[in-house]
Amino acid sequence: MSESEIPPVRKTKKITLPILQKLKNEGQKFATLTAYDFSMASTINDNHIEVILVGDSLGMTIQGHTNTLPVSIEDMIYHTKCVVAGAPLPLIMVDMPFATYSTAQDALITAAQLMRVGAEIVKLEGKDWLIPIIAKLSEQGIPVCAHFGLTPQFVHQLGGFKVQGRTKSAAEDMLNNAKAAEAAGAKIILLECVPVNLAKKITKAVKIPVIGIGAGKDTDAQVLVIQDILGLTKRPARFVKNYMDQENNIQNAIKAFGQEVRDGLYPEPQHSFES
Ligand code: KIV
Repeated sequence: MSESEIPPVRKTKKITLPILQKLKNEGQKFATLTAYDFSMASTINDNHIEVILVGDSLGMTIQGHTNTLPVSIEDMIYHTKCVVAGAPLPLIMVDMPFATYSTAQDALITAAQLMRVGAEIVKLEGKDWLIPIIAKLSEQGIPVCAHFGLTPQFVHQLGGFKVQGRTKSAAEDMLNNAKAAEAAGAKIILLECVPVNLAKKITKAVKIPVIGIGAGKDTDAQVLVIQDILGLTKRPARFVKNYMDQENNIQNAIKAFGQEVRDGLYPEPQHSFES
């Protein structure tokens, strides 16, 4: 799809969960980028990226920590407000910070604070223990994205930022967790650092959209961290593509990322992991 072919609905209309669901149903891919501030959110808005993630990756990209654990609910509220002010069109997804959703009651309190400042869907990292929490939030009208695979809030338990789902039993567990999350009411699944074949299987097994990062080309959508696509990360992960290598300004780099995702040109095999 070339720039001139982007349908008006994705250029001028507010992106909602039903629109993303329709894209999945029709086999059309969509793009997601992180943003943490007004000017970047506004630039992403103007270049037709469908979803903005206010990621707790801001712990690393904005605050300079080595992981996402120090990020607080106050940080997430502040950055969500900044992003919402600049991005009227993309769907706004916001991360629930580390250890703020270990019970359904805690999750409800955290999610409500984020929804009140403009989050339109909240993202939670975990495994099977997430399922009752997803059910509770969904029942209360809070849309949920369930993040499986490499879950950076569990970096110490995982022993580093490593590809997940490589053994038969880990792959089966992830597939079952994705199906259970959908049954509990999740609106989106996000898979991080998962072998291509497993991500493909999960994407086929659920009806809701699956967003991938380091999960190969077969997911319904892709997400990258904005600093990564702009070449600002010192040691980028294998799945990162620096769009400033081919474009002459930030606006064009963002546009090119969206375009390549919609056209199925990003990610390529060198950005992906085999089992
Ligand atoms: O916090 C974040 O930016 C994320 C993405 C890397 C998926 O969770």
